[in-house]
Amino acid sequence: MNRLLIKNLAEIATPLGKTALRGKAMNDIKIYKNGAIYCEDGIIKLAGTAEEVLPQLSSGTAVKEIDAHGKCAVPGFVDPHTHFLFGGTRADEFIARLEGVPYMDLLKRGGGIVSTMRQTRVMSEENMYSAGKKILENMLKQGFTTIEGKSGYGLDKNTELKMLRTMKRLQKDLPITLKTTFLGAHAVPPEFAGRSNEFIDFTIEQVFPEIQKEKLAEFCDVFCEKGVFSIAESQKLLLAAKETGMKAKIHADEIVSTGGGGLAADIGAVSADHLLAVTDEDIKKLAGSNTAAVLLPMTAFCMRKQFAPARQMIDTGCIVALASDFNPGSCYSYAAPLILALAVINMHLTINEALTAITLNAAAAVDEADTSGSIEPGKKADILLLSKSDYRFLVYLTGINIVEHVIKNGEIIF
Ligand code: NIG
Ligand code: FE
Repeated sequence: MNRLLIKNLAEIATPLGKTALRGKAMNDIKIYKNGAIYCEDGIIKLAGTAEEVLPQLSSGTAVKEIDAHGKCAVPGFVDPHTHFLFGGTRADEFIARLEGVPYMDLLKRGGGIVSTMRQTRVMSEENMYSAGKKILENMLKQGFTTIEGKSGYGLDKNTELKMLRTMKRLQKDLPITLKTTFLGAHAVPPEFAGRSNEFIDFTIEQVFPEIQKEKLAEFCDVFCEKGVFSIAESQKLLLAAKETGMKAKIHADEIVSTGGGGLAADIGAVSADHLLAVTDEDIKKLAGSNTAAVLLPMTAFCMRKQFAPARQMIDTGCIVALASDFNPGSCYSYAAPLILALAVINMHLTINEALTAITLNAAAAVDEADTSGSIEPGKKADILLLSKSDYRFLVYLTGINIVEHVIKNGEIIF
């Protein structure tokens, strides 16, 4: 048996529970001073103060020990929204956007997602694997122990399947919980220009069966946006996806409000993501549902947009989670310290709410709240040891990565 004891922790800071926290409860972070955590075979068995934990350990058993004097432990971060697999980069578009060209204009001109599509279609599976591996390893250094990845840069059957199969390989090979999402409806490919409806039918009829056969994706996502896929098209796609066993996610109300947030709540989606332009009515719908509102502050920041109304969402009772949205277009970053800083400084979350949003609630947004996102018995031993003794330094030491050690499934990765 693999036993690990982390002792002498200045503090443990964690949300608690096996389901997402909403509203005021997001602020309820449990703090254990002089903490200790004991794990067996990758699972947390005991967590609390040294006085609570240490007497329960039987002496004489071989235990690997970490003396975490002066350090603080928080749960491994969860990133529930990334597009980490892609060919090429788009620095020119980044500069053009800074000079005032709107994101949707670039897409309409055959740039944006379609430009990455062209570069991803010609990428070999080996190159895709090694590029993805490097990115995931770097994300692990930021503290992300669970990561969601989307397809969506193939927009044809072969490349979409290639992306999902590559993720399956990465899932096996890396010490990361990788959750796969099929985002075949990320944009209308040139082959279907002006025929988005037919592209949705093609996706349901031709691609879904392959995904189902090989169990390639747990979730299905869609870019529900004016000029991309309508509410009706998104609903048709996601209801069909649910029939094949995939859970729904939606890129909703990112640029203009089309009712994507409300649709997510109506169809019982696991998450509605972006929500910069969500209406008050749809915030209420989300608050009355179990759909997580996944907010992507770095995307709003990079696109110079108003942040999603996070305060209003939490105060209304929504399940709010945070994610990077890492992709080569709207947000070429997976910097966890920046996500946390923007959430607290610009979106007015408390530090406790932000910690819940990037751990337990982010886990709920990928249907992993029962296994990850908190430090408590029964959860995976996914633990970050911070170089500071106070978890508030995650934001106070602004933009700096203070993750010193990452423990994944009870193994010290670095
Ligand atoms: O979540 N908005 C749609 N999809 C991504 C951007 C993808 C890209 O520009 O390559 C997003 O922001
Ligand atoms: Fe996205």
